[in-house]
Amino acid sequence: MSNVIAIDGPSGAGKSSVSRIVGERLGYLHVDSGALYRIMTWQCLANGVDTDSPEAICAFAGKVEIECRPEAGHIAYYVGGEAPGDRIRTPEINAHASKVAREKPVRDKVTALLKGMTQYGNLVVEGRDITTAVFPESPARFYLTASAEARARRRQKEEVEKGIANQSAEAVKASLLARDAIDSTRKYAPLKKADGALEIDSSDLTLEQVVETVMNALPKEWRA
Ligand code: DC
Repeated sequence: MSNVIAIDGPSGAGKSSVSRIVGERLGYLHVDSGALYRIMTWQCLANGVDTDSPEAICAFAGKVEIECRPEAGHIAYYVGGEAPGDRIRTPEINAHASKVAREKPVRDKVTALLKGMTQYGNLVVEGRDITTAVFPESPARFYLTASAEARARRRQKEEVEKGIANQSAEAVKASLLARDAIDSTRKYAPLKKADGALEIDSSDLTLEQVVETVMNALPKEWRA
């Protein structure tokens, strides 16, 4: 049986950086579940699926084929042999992703892919429903959060550094809060802190402090 470290939280809380570092330190594969929902959104938009139509999204979900394979410390994703890269990180994808991610056939598909990844070994999985719905039995579950201002600042910096967009911090904050609202009020597997998950507010912590908090809370036999 693989060990699974599950980390949930809203956009910009620092889940990706923390998961990547914890994965590197322990030799666990990093799994970005949000990227799978982003790929589903990208494919909807690329195929002219109206993301305001739940019926259209549900009918289309089964047609998307995503290949998942372990590669250099993480699980990489391919669609039609192509890596999506930063095409799934644009403001347009941000604006549509929550609408796609709230549909049950989309969630069932991504959940099945995530559960199947335990065949590749020990994992650090980040997302919104990993601690509550995908791997609720994990003994290492975390809810990472931060103030809306801190989260928007980080996301905006990341977008500028990666050359993805150059939006104001206010615009980034508005888009992030709009997504949070849909993610935490949807019918299926909404974002919430799981009972028994350790909540970490990263607003005033360094990345290293968050990583250490996670590492110290792991079952003793999992620590490197
Ligand atoms: O973490 P992210 O911003 O890349 O996530 C993209 C979208 O997918 C966002 O709307 C939340 C959703 N998501 C989800 O519903 N469940 C997950 N486990 C991960 C992401």
